[in-house]
Amino acid sequence: MDTLLDLLRSRRTVRTFRPEPIPPQVVAQMLEVAVYAPSAHNLQPWRFVLLESEAARHHLAEALSTALRRDMQAQGASESAIEARVQRSRRRLLEAPLAILLCRDRSACREKTPEEEIMGIQSVAAAGLQLLLTAHAFGLGGNWICWPLYAPAETRQALDLPTDWQPEALFFFGYPAETPPIPERAVIVVRR
Ligand SMILES: Cc1cc2nc3c(=O)[nH]c(=O)nc-3n(C[C@H](O)[C@H](O)[C@H](O)COP(=O)(O)O)c2cc1C
Repeated sequence: MDTLLDLLRSRRTVRTFRPEPIPPQVVAQMLEVAVYAPSAHNLQPWRFVLLESEAARHHLAEALSTALRRDMQAQGASESAIEARVQRSRRRLLEAPLAILLCRDRSACREKTPEEEIMGIQSVAAAGLQLLLTAHAFGLGGNWICWPLYAPAETRQALDLPTDWQPEALFFFGYPAETPPIPERAVIVVRR
């Protein structure tokens, strides 16, 4: 039990990775364990897109960069700020040893009520956390990225995904090249 608690406390967001690839059997186990997450009605709406080919990563980087430029221009950002942000984000996507897009399959969920939609998102997020924790158990660092949330249709088109697959998160994984500090943790509890 202590080992599990230590594991839960010691996971950190890691944003820089050593270049070594991750063994395929480790990736397979990460996915196999992630799906033990709980899900509303046990509908398991999570879908994993492994960004294995250079072509897929480039297509996604193009689509997300175009959307990011458009959004930052609309907000009045300077051209230099836009280029710096786009280049940083692109580099992270293209260079991560492992990149996984996590989607929610809307066709796997019940009625299209707001409550059911939230349950689906929460279920997928539970699998996302499980993915990060399992990666950590294998000595990998991971980073949860929300970039595709800003361009779901473009993401689907770039990766040729079904229209019901809603991108929820992008994950980068690799062997850590940094030891991030532990951010302050907030424990805010009320008792009634
Ligand atoms: C829903 C969600 C979205 C996030 N989006 C990003 C992101 O777009 N870019 C990024 O670098 N980190 C992102 N993070 C990572 C957080 O910045 C990180 O978890 C937080 O700073 C706490 O650090 P820790 O994970 O080391 O505890 C995201 C985390 C979550 C849960």
